Amino acid sequence: SIDVSTLTRATGYTALDQGFVNTASTKSAITYIDGDAGILRYRGYPIEELAKGSTYLEVAFLLIYGELPTPDQLGEFDEKIRRHTLLHEDLKHFFDALPHTAHPMSVLSSAVSALSTYYEDSLNVHDPEQVEISTIRLLAKLPVIAAYAHKKALGQAFLYPDNSLSFVDNFLKLNFGTMAEPYVVNPVLSKALDRLLILHEDHEQNASTSTVRLVGSTEANIFSSISAGINALYGPLHGGANEAVLKMLADIRDSGEGVAKFVERVKKKEEGVRLMGFGHRVYKSYDPRAKLVKESADEVLEALGVQDELLDLARELEQIALADPYFIERKLYPNVDFYTGVIYKAMGFPTRMFTVLFAIGRLPGWIAHWREMNADPATKIGRPQQLYIGPPERHLDR
Ligand code: ACO
Repeated sequence: SIDVSTLTRATGYTALDQGFVNTASTKSAITYIDGDAGILRYRGYPIEELAKGSTYLEVAFLLIYGELPTPDQLGEFDEKIRRHTLLHEDLKHFFDALPHTAHPMSVLSSAVSALSTYYEDSLNVHDPEQVEISTIRLLAKLPVIAAYAHKKALGQAFLYPDNSLSFVDNFLKLNFGTMAEPYVVNPVLSKALDRLLILHEDHEQNASTSTVRLVGSTEANIFSSISAGINALYGPLHGGANEAVLKMLADIRDSGEGVAKFVERVKKKEEGVRLMGFGHRVYKSYDPRAKLVKESADEVLEALGVQDELLDLARELEQIALADPYFIERKLYPNVDFYTGVIYKAMGFPTRMFTVLFAIGRLPGWIAHWREMNADPATKIGRPQQLYIGPPERHLDR
């Protein structure tokens, strides 16, 4: 690789790379991807091993601190997170100001931004104690905010976190429990959700992580930086794709046009028609996360005894696309978002919560990148160049 910043400065050239297709914005020791071989590793560990033998919090520790925790370290980390799940009571009133029709991703980013107002010390971005406590607060409170966004949309009362439960079980209870009845966590759901969250924990310099780093490079605090990352994730070409996939499958079912006809419309590039959940900037082979999600979809739906015609449609769509020269030539394969929505739906989450689940998954990665950027003395404020193509100098005719 070449350092274009010194090269172009010395030659007087500016490199134009729209969408950063071939420009590294940073060095990073967190995640390794080989898109042609379908390899994803967090801190050197293959995603397949972590997904099968680890937990969300263990992987969060690995991403943030660089090594897997010992049992004692994991216990301490888990305990600290459990102790910080409560939201300030005033912050709960913040939800009253929002309409119940609000998209939960907007609620999530707004509430995370609002955390800065309660924890102003987080503005001391180079104080290690502040970085540490902000890390714990984010991990503990994001799932609670997410569940309140869900409850708000339903018009149901917010529950207090139950800190006797594990991270994922607590989250399920906050979403699906009510004041009226005791809630018993289904271990199949809990295990499956934990695994899905692991698969989303980091993905190097994707749009939302790059956003977190760019905002953080101005020395904005971690809450503001991650709120910006949540907004970047919201878009349908990024995390919003999981919601878009389910909408696409439901549209195909409801229109009765059939999968083959829909694929023809995709190939003709009809306006606004893309095969959502397919294609990736980095993976030019099967996304390794998508393989694991597909396995989970089969397991979860079978364990819950759910038959979903949308899953059948998704399978048919995948089969047709993978045999079609349009997709083969462009190396378009299912990405992580293709099957997740079907599982989230079977778990009982409404479509609008899907990207919120992605955000909870991605949070440890955002934190790890913010901390890596913040601790690196080589970090500079992110400030891309442009090629000006507007009018030459002109003057007011007065
Ligand atoms: N359906 C149909 N055609 C597609 C798709 C798709 N999903 N994705 C890419 N293509 C086509 C493009 O039209 C283009 O064709 P052309 O060469 O004839 O012009 C070619 O494949 C290359 O596509 P680009 O858009 O240049 O690829 P890019 O790397 O910029 O985009 C992206 C990647 C945004 C993920 C794209 O594949 C896409 O829009 N996919 C659907 C949305 C989606 O699933 N997003 C989630 C991504 S994963 C994540 O964020 C977690």
